[in-house]
Amino acid sequence: MKDATPQPTLLADYAPYPFVIEGVDLTFRLAPKTTRVLARIAFAPNPTSPGRHDLCLDGENLTLVSASVDGKPVRPVQDDTGLTLSADQIPDGPFLWEAEVEIDPEANTALEGLYMSGGIYCTQCEAEGFRKITFYPDRPDVMAPFKVRIESDMPALLSNGNPTGKGAGWAEWTDPWPKPAYLFALVAGDLKAVPDTFTTMSGRKVDLNIWVRDGDQDRCAYAMDSLIRSMKWDEEVYGREYDLDVFNIVAVDDFNMGAMENKGLNVFNSKLVLASPETATDLDFERIEGVIAHEYFHNWTGNRITCRDWFQLCLKEGLTVFRDQQFTSDMRSAPVKRIDDVLTLRARQFREDMGPLAHPVRPDHYVEINNFYTATVYEKGAEVIGMLKRLVGDEGYKKALDLYFDRHDGEAATIEDWLKVFEDATGRDLAQFKRWYTDAGTPRLTVSEAWSDGTYTLTFIQKTPPTPGQDKKPPRVIPIAVGLLNPNGDEVVPTTVLEMTEATQSFRFDTLASRPVASILRGFSAPVVLDRKVDQTERAFLLAHDTDPFNKWEAGRALAKDVLAGMIAEDRAPSQSFIEALGAVLADESLDPAFRALCLRLPSEDDLAQTLHDAGRVPDPAAIHAGRAALATAIARHLQKPLVATYDAMATEGEFSPDAAAAGKRALRLGCLGLLNHIDNGTRAASLFASASNMTESHGALACLIEGGRGTREIGAFYERWQTNRLVIDKWFMVQVAHALPDEAAMTAERLSQHPDFDWQNPNRFRALLGALAANHAGFHHASGAAYRFYADWLLKLDPVNPQTTARMSTAFETWARYDEDRKALIRAELDRILATPGLSRDVTEMVGRIRG
Ligand code: TRP
Ligand code: ZN
Repeated sequence: MKDATPQPTLLADYAPYPFVIEGVDLTFRLAPKTTRVLARIAFAPNPTSPGRHDLCLDGENLTLVSASVDGKPVRPVQDDTGLTLSADQIPDGPFLWEAEVEIDPEANTALEGLYMSGGIYCTQCEAEGFRKITFYPDRPDVMAPFKVRIESDMPALLSNGNPTGKGAGWAEWTDPWPKPAYLFALVAGDLKAVPDTFTTMSGRKVDLNIWVRDGDQDRCAYAMDSLIRSMKWDEEVYGREYDLDVFNIVAVDDFNMGAMENKGLNVFNSKLVLASPETATDLDFERIEGVIAHEYFHNWTGNRITCRDWFQLCLKEGLTVFRDQQFTSDMRSAPVKRIDDVLTLRARQFREDMGPLAHPVRPDHYVEINNFYTATVYEKGAEVIGMLKRLVGDEGYKKALDLYFDRHDGEAATIEDWLKVFEDATGRDLAQFKRWYTDAGTPRLTVSEAWSDGTYTLTFIQKTPPTPGQDKKPPRVIPIAVGLLNPNGDEVVPTTVLEMTEATQSFRFDTLASRPVASILRGFSAPVVLDRKVDQTERAFLLAHDTDPFNKWEAGRALAKDVLAGMIAEDRAPSQSFIEALGAVLADESLDPAFRALCLRLPSEDDLAQTLHDAGRVPDPAAIHAGRAALATAIARHLQKPLVATYDAMATEGEFSPDAAAAGKRALRLGCLGLLNHIDNGTRAASLFASASNMTESHGALACLIEGGRGTREIGAFYERWQTNRLVIDKWFMVQVAHALPDEAAMTAERLSQHPDFDWQNPNRFRALLGALAANHAGFHHASGAAYRFYADWLLKLDPVNPQTTARMSTAFETWARYDEDRKALIRAELDRILATPGLSRDVTEMVGRIRG
């Protein structure tokens, strides 16, 4: 298992499994240390693979008690990864494989397979966890109907599909829909149901349940409401109806990721289910809504139509992210959602795409598949679908999706299948478009403009820098949404989509009365870096006048970056005209408060480091931190009056509501507070903390206090109030480290790591502390190297316990090549120390090896 040089799996090596499975029958006799799993699997030869074949089954950490074929005992050859039964030991035709294995859920700290979380048995099988439950062809193109019997004294016994029997100490579930093993789930524990129902478009009644620990029932209402709205939305927008009699959601505290779409039995990280105004922030509410929708939408995009192999992961993830983004746009504000999504894309995916971990949306090799649940597969995967939709239009998209569901229902499909439905539905050739799936890297789009005799010409050059293993980057199809404004701010050419297909290409606009101002890449119509030499006056003009809300925000963003880069790298003074333009946005009450809040938010320090690096400079984290604070201070001084007025005007009145409008007001209020905090000695933050009746404001106030080097008393009070609530204590750890002063971040993290509540084997708690340290840019990259060392120490401590989470967390180092020689040497030393550690997991070996380069 701990192979020194694990061989990569290649897309090119795909071959179908030589058997099909007609049915799976599982019995679980649950015991914390000695669970018995009895499997009866009906195999038959796969007609696409003629001839006789050995039976190869995956299996890890399983103790085989007995095995038989058609009732006759067999003795397969076993190794660390599974077992083989030679072709001469199996009939030439259908046969029944039976096996009993023993597993130890309590010892399973990796949280993959069957494990225990706070006394609850639960499973996580994606991507390759089912092989830790029983011997099986653990690959997504082997689909089968499952019947499951659970034997245990636990009050709640759950699995996939419909309940088909229960008695004292047992329950039976039947899932009629053929599924791959990664969608299998089992939960058993002392759980309470929060019930509701949904009637589908064809009039079928579905029982909905959210299962939580006793005492948590009163924090499930928002998740349930989100689920019902998701079910309705998927019927209305995609024509997709739910297909079982029950839909169960379980919340568990120990989980490696956000949530999992197991058929009929979604398992969630409890932080994405449990919420009340007192304990959850507006961001938590929005995430709960989005992830509940995401997992529910997988029922069609992922479960009914699944992936042929893990290289096709974006087939389900990119599409399902795209669908959950559409859902949130419909539930909330579409422009605000688009800006939020682009912020995430740039912060996570661009960062990945510009570094050593760059890979295509559809990779063609991997060592450990868990390392490919990335921002590129998810977020860029969604962007690619957004571009397709723009290119074929809303009607074309609808036709293509209808064809997709029609043609591939019940199948394990590929990206080729996906593109083919678009070609067949719209008649468009997508050969060049496919490069978005196969080529890594973020294209850079350089624009130049020319004006003569009423003709305005835009010339674009596209260039994609080389990425690991891919030197040449042929041109891609880039949909560039453009609008033209005339100098008084009116729109003279409404949004049109230019289709760029060449390396260099010009587009002309004729018969214009005066030279226009171009608004380019409206709505962020392609995931590219737009490189455009524009002076600050034109940016300020677009910030004031652009009719496209995304580009209006983007103009302010670009302006802020220009100003900050000048302050950080050239010691320039804060720009007066920028501050005035910001003041105009702040005062414009025709604009949504959430939108104004986004405009007020300065680019993050990590974003600025990337921007400076792109401009050929070496970013200095301390100078970036100081420059950003200096600009915030200047804004607060110059706009003090309107900031105070807005801060007061946005106070919550009446009862708390988590809806977008109310959340937008709180976001704007906290945005004002964050700026004023630089000049008011923390007085406003302290009084807000004292009076706040919701977590959004009390957490926001606490963050401000800590950022100003204050808040010791409040940190204590927060702990006293919330010490029995794990999710809130996660915030308590996180806020102290994420907002610590740069010189104190590593020390604070070290001190908190000694706290009795630092239960480091719990991924949420580990991420709260270590993730917060990595998110504190100036603290993490402190010249002392203390944070690097501390962080690497903890990666090495977690790896033997939970390699999947460790590998994900190691991406904190992926940007190391941006920095100065001293910092690079410090990080390299840590990466080398990690790689030299004996027994390092395959996950971390691959990830840190790629980062190190
Ligand atoms: N399929 C899940 C989602 O996108 C992701 C997921 C949950 C996952 N748990 C995992 C992926 C464990 C890999 C390993 O919704
Ligand atoms: Zn997903």
